[in-house]
Amino acid sequence: MLSRETDEMTTAQAGELYYDPYDYGIDADPYPVWKRLRDEAPLYHNEKLGFYALSRYDDVLAGLLDHETFVSSHGITLEMISDEPAGIPMMIMMDPPEHTRLRKLVSRAFTPRRIQALETRITEICSELLDPLVGAGQFDYIVDYAGLIPPTVILALVGFPPGLASEFRATVDSSMHFEEGRDPTAIGAERRENRSVTDLSGIFTMLPDLMRQRRQDPKEDLISALVHAELDDVDGASRTLTDQEIMGFVRLLSTAGSETVVRLLGFAGVELARHPDQRELLLADPGLIANAVEETLRYEAPSPIQGRWVARDVELHGTVVPRGSKMALLNASADRDERHFPDPDRYQVRREIDRHLAFGYGTHFCIGGALARLEGRVALTETLKRFPRWEIDEAAVQRIHTTTVRGYTNVPFTPAV
Ligand code: HEM
Repeated sequence: MLSRETDEMTTAQAGELYYDPYDYGIDADPYPVWKRLRDEAPLYHNEKLGFYALSRYDDVLAGLLDHETFVSSHGITLEMISDEPAGIPMMIMMDPPEHTRLRKLVSRAFTPRRIQALETRITEICSELLDPLVGAGQFDYIVDYAGLIPPTVILALVGFPPGLASEFRATVDSSMHFEEGRDPTAIGAERRENRSVTDLSGIFTMLPDLMRQRRQDPKEDLISALVHAELDDVDGASRTLTDQEIMGFVRLLSTAGSETVVRLLGFAGVELARHPDQRELLLADPGLIANAVEETLRYEAPSPIQGRWVARDVELHGTVVPRGSKMALLNASADRDERHFPDPDRYQVRREIDRHLAFGYGTHFCIGGALARLEGRVALTETLKRFPRWEIDEAAVQRIHTTTVRGYTNVPFTPAV
């Protein structure tokens, strides 16, 4: 009797398995539904919204590695993907060999050695932001601190004048916002319409001028490198980049290089408050902070879903997914897969992580991984130095709603006195 009741209760609680990536409620805590996908529907099909999803670690990894079946050139967010190539001049939405040529051009700027040279400057930026907050009582960890570090760093690397971090964040946050209840297909169509990249807004209106200036008077920044770069073209000849390609690069690097890192820092601030025992480990041994960044990325991936267009029929878990389908590779679910990580729902700064998928994998593996890791380590180190213990006002925490990044916009932070 008891066991039948328990069974009935479990079934009732479990309910229909339905995953809607646009649902704010699910987005706030997607882990229970992702666990059910991994256990009950490792190849999930949402007929209403028209997409498939892979959620287990091994499947997501294999999907990320197979760029011939799961292509990026038709768009990388589900609502944007269609049977036509997106035609957006950003390498994240290109496939080899075009992607390979463009990636080669900028990868030199992001090698671990080049990035390591930025540590002193990033430490200064963190100190300038945090010092005035010491003794000031409650502040917002994102608005007053974490939200300003990544845009300050990436905009300087790209070549924008200083002082634009707040304006830039406002432009990007509003352009990425997804209003619940809106038809995702309409949003996807709008984003594809915006494909020209020359439709500039916010700080990007400065780009044509900056490009002109750097053509005449190059500096040590990415805009200078891009306007003077020679690209190996398909026929073996070389050519300079078009204005559209340069603008695409600048927009991609500025946006990808700031939004995600802000979310990583927000997650770290919140999870360390929720797990004071783990924070004590970092205070006792700051050498663990780099690993805490990895664990935070595994535990709460800032970019949790990688969308792909299926370029050929593929059989997965006994079902043929036809060419032309949309596929969601749920890398954040993969990083909580108990088939790969023991006790995956525990946040443990000492965890040994062989490979998490928060930066994707394979062809499009995040080019800014070393920079994100450095910013994460330095920002947390400087926080812990000044504020060894803190609490978060959980009721007042707010989230961003987009179809690409996931995380917080507001994290009220009260230092312990
Ligand atoms: C915690 C921070 C970050 C996370 C979680 C993150 C995550 C990701 C993921 C998942 C991808 C793969 C996308 C795909 O497979 O379609 C990616 C690609 C990319 N990321 Fe990041 N990223 C972060 C920081 C950065 C930074 C700091 C930069 C600045 C340069 C950056 C620039 C890029 C670019 C340009 C790509 C496209 C690479 C390609 O297509 O070859 N990201 N990132």
